[in-house]
Amino acid sequence: MKVSVIGATGYTGAELVKILLKHPQVEIETITSQSFANKKISEIYPSLITDLVCQELNINKIALSSSFIFTALPHRISMEIVGKLHSRGKKIIDLSADFRFIDPLIYEEWYGTPHQKKELLKKAIYGLPELYREKISRARLVANPGCYPTSSILALAPLVNNDLIKGNSIIIDAKSGVTGAGRALSLATHFPEVNENVRAYQVKGHRHTPEIEEQLGKLTTREIIITFVPHLVPINRGILCTCYAALKQKTDTKDLLKLYQDFYKEEPFVEILPQGRFPQTKEVLDSNRCRIGITVNERSGRAIIISAIDNLAKGAATQAVQNMNIMCGFEETMGLIQ
Ligand SMILES: NC(=O)c1ccc[n+]([C@@H]2O[C@H](COP(=O)([O-])OP(=O)(O)OC[C@H]3O[C@@H](n4cnc5c(N)ncnc54)[C@H](OP(=O)(O)O)[C@@H]3O)[C@@H](O)[C@H]2O)c1
Repeated sequence: MKVSVIGATGYTGAELVKILLKHPQVEIETITSQSFANKKISEIYPSLITDLVCQELNINKIALSSSFIFTALPHRISMEIVGKLHSRGKKIIDLSADFRFIDPLIYEEWYGTPHQKKELLKKAIYGLPELYREKISRARLVANPGCYPTSSILALAPLVNNDLIKGNSIIIDAKSGVTGAGRALSLATHFPEVNENVRAYQVKGHRHTPEIEEQLGKLTTREIIITFVPHLVPINRGILCTCYAALKQKTDTKDLLKLYQDFYKEEPFVEILPQGRFPQTKEVLDSNRCRIGITVNERSGRAIIISAIDNLAKGAATQAVQNMNIMCGFEETMGLIQ
């Protein structure tokens, strides 16, 4: 299958190129970049062994030559491009937030920009295979989830789905590596600002909050309101979410562990760790795995669920390839198990 990656020079785009180069059913047709047009991608990322050259974006050319397209662009820029490709009958996975929300007003409120392709929101499927595999298999446009939402939703879905949480007691204390902010230069991600430092950011409200709330809300009949605080930690890649939730009734760790094991028993990429074990970001580095550790703090009556993913992998590029495999009828794990 001929595929193209639009925005291949970004962190998620380059990660996609790395995985797709090894995928047995895929040939990369075109990769695009604004700033590095006509440059080999191996000059920008020397670890990529390929002669692929970055092209300027030409939608017509891509639509003619590729049947499957990944867009790895900043939000707002994606929506126009995805709209044009969708009207040409292409299958698309968009890694930005532009098609993740059902309600355009929520997008406009949190992303501070009008949504130009509202009609496509109804057609886009949220690309979390563990919850929407069937719908993804029939979709032509998949909105790949955000990195924090992937980690948080997988950690909390079994509790919410079984209506075990008291009120609005969910607290997500999340940490991310610096690649989560993308490759563009900014003072906040400058080496001396980040190194030997840990800080919370967007404490009053991070854009991933409504995404997590909307998706968890689909698993229950009541509205979900969470408290979500992200932190920047001095590592390149990785997300660790420590989630706290007050339990409605007395539950012990063993019961909760069994609930999680049952919920994810068919899932090739979600691993529930044995009692007393909790994940670390290094365990999931460069893989499509999400590892989850569980305990109940019986003194406080709270469940503590800790999940770890690689933000560029299960949080972006490998999850996109998992979605492509589902959309195209390939083995779901194809190209994703090292
Ligand atoms: N980083 C993560 O961990 C992560 C995780 C999940 C989802 N996402 C989402 O995935 C998307 C890509 O993220 P990223 O971290 O890979 O971003 P990034 O490193 O900043 O890369 C952005 C890419 O978009 C291209 N681009 C920027 N403006 C453009 C324009 N006006 N027209 C055409 N191309 C343009 C850039 O090309 P040139 O610079 O070569 O011109 C670059 O290839 C974002 O929407 C992000 O929110 C990121």
